[in-house]
Amino acid sequence: MTNVAVIGAQWGDEGKGKVVDWLASRADVVVRFQGGHNAGHTLVVGNQTYKLSLLPSGLVRGKLCIIGNGVVVDPDALLAEIARVRAQGLTVTPETLRVADNATLILPLHPALDNAREVARGDRKIGTTGRGIGPAYEDKVARRAIRIADLAEPETLSAKLDELLLHYNTLLQGLGVAPFVKETLLQGLLALAPQILPFAEPVWERLDELRRGGKRILFEGAQAVMLDVDHGTYPFVTSSNTVAATAASGSGVGPAAVGFVLGIAKAYTTRVGSGPFPTELHDATGQLLGDRGREFGTVTGRRRRCGWFDAALVRQAVKVAGVQGIALTKLDILDGLPELKICTGYRIDGAFCRHLPASPGAQAAAVPEYETVEGWSGSSRGARSWADLPAQAVKYVRRIEELVEAPVTLLSTSPERDDTIMVRDPFEG
Ligand code: IMP
Repeated sequence: MTNVAVIGAQWGDEGKGKVVDWLASRADVVVRFQGGHNAGHTLVVGNQTYKLSLLPSGLVRGKLCIIGNGVVVDPDALLAEIARVRAQGLTVTPETLRVADNATLILPLHPALDNAREVARGDRKIGTTGRGIGPAYEDKVARRAIRIADLAEPETLSAKLDELLLHYNTLLQGLGVAPFVKETLLQGLLALAPQILPFAEPVWERLDELRRGGKRILFEGAQAVMLDVDHGTYPFVTSSNTVAATAASGSGVGPAAVGFVLGIAKAYTTRVGSGPFPTELHDATGQLLGDRGREFGTVTGRRRRCGWFDAALVRQAVKVAGVQGIALTKLDILDGLPELKICTGYRIDGAFCRHLPASPGAQAAAVPEYETVEGWSGSSRGARSWADLPAQAVKYVRRIEELVEAPVTLLSTSPERDDTIMVRDPFEG
C-alpha cells in the first residue's frame, strides 16, 4: 500500500474532481498542497453537487482534510466555502479540517493587484482567475507574506501590514487603483482570526503521525503541469509548482511519502486563459468538443479553448512530473467522430521537435505534427470494462499510452463515479 498524488497532466480541468473523489473514498486523509481558490472541483454525490475551490475533496466523503503550507489561503474565501458546504449538510470542524499554520494568506490587496496588472497588460494578459494567487506567492518568496500563524499576533500583523502596504500602495497607485487603508485591513484580519485559528496547526507533524500509523494519504493537486511556474508555458502559467514533487514541500513530508503519481489527462485538450495551445481547433470540431464536453470553467465560467489530444505535451508532463499512470477522462466526448488526430510533436522553423520548447517565440511558431486515427461509431459512454469499449476506442487509448510513454491505469467514461475502468489500483503502487 502506498500514498497517491493526483495531478493534472495538461492545462487543468482534466476531470480531476471525479477521479479525486473516487480515490478519496478509499483514502484516510486528503491533502491540498499548492494553489488556492483558483482551483475548481465539481463533485456530484447522490443528488448533491458540491463546488469546491479551496477545500480538499475528501470533505465530501467525511475524510480528514488538510490544507498544506504550499497553498495560498484567502481566509474570506475559506470561511465562505465552509459555510456553503455546511449548508449542503457537510460537517466541517477542526476535527475534520486542518490548515497549515505556516500557509500564506491572500488579502484583499492581492486580487486588487492581480486584476489591475491584467488590465495594464492589455492584449498580453495572462487570463488569471483574478483571485490574487500570483501576488500572494510573490509575497511569500519576497518574505513579506502574512501567514496563518501571524493571525495570533496582532503586533506582528501590524508591522507586516506596514511593509506590505508600502509595497502595494505604491504599485496600486501607479496603476491608478485606490490605495488600501492599514486599519481596515488590520481590523478585518483580527475579526477573522478567531474563526480561522482553531483550524491551524503544524500539519507536517500530523502527517508524520498519520504516516507512521499506516494511513493512506491522497495528495490532491490543483491546476496542472503545463501551468507549472517552471515547467509550464511560462509566463502563461499559475504561480506555483504543480508537479507531484510539490506534494512533499507543500505539505511537509519527504519525497518518498508522495507515493504513486497519477496524472489526469483528458482524451482531447482544453485550456482556459491565454497562452500557446498548438493543437487548438477554431473550427466546428473544436466547437463540438466544447459543447459536448461542457467546457466551461468552474471558477471563471469562461468557455475553455478546445483541441486535439497533444501527446507530445502530455509526454513532457509525464517526464517532468514523474507520472507513473494516466487517468484518461472524457473519452466518450469523442464518440462518433469519423477520425481523430493525435499530436506527436511539432514542426518549428522546419525542424521536428518532440517537446514544446521553453522560448515563447518557438512555442508560438510550433505547428503540430499529427497522426490520424480512425474514430468509432459505437458508444464508449458508461463503459466499465475494456470489452464494453468499441475496438477503435481501445486502439486510440493504446496509441496514447505508447506516445505519452505511460500506461493508462484508469479510464473514465462518463461523469458518473462508477463509470470507470480501473486497470491498476494506484494505492497498490
Ligand atoms: P492564476 O492561477 O489565477 O494566477 O491564473 C494563471 C493561469 O492559470 C490562467 O491561465 C488561469 O486560467 C489558469 N488557471 C488557474 N487555475 C486553474 C484551474 O484550476 N484550472 C485551469 N486553469 C487554471
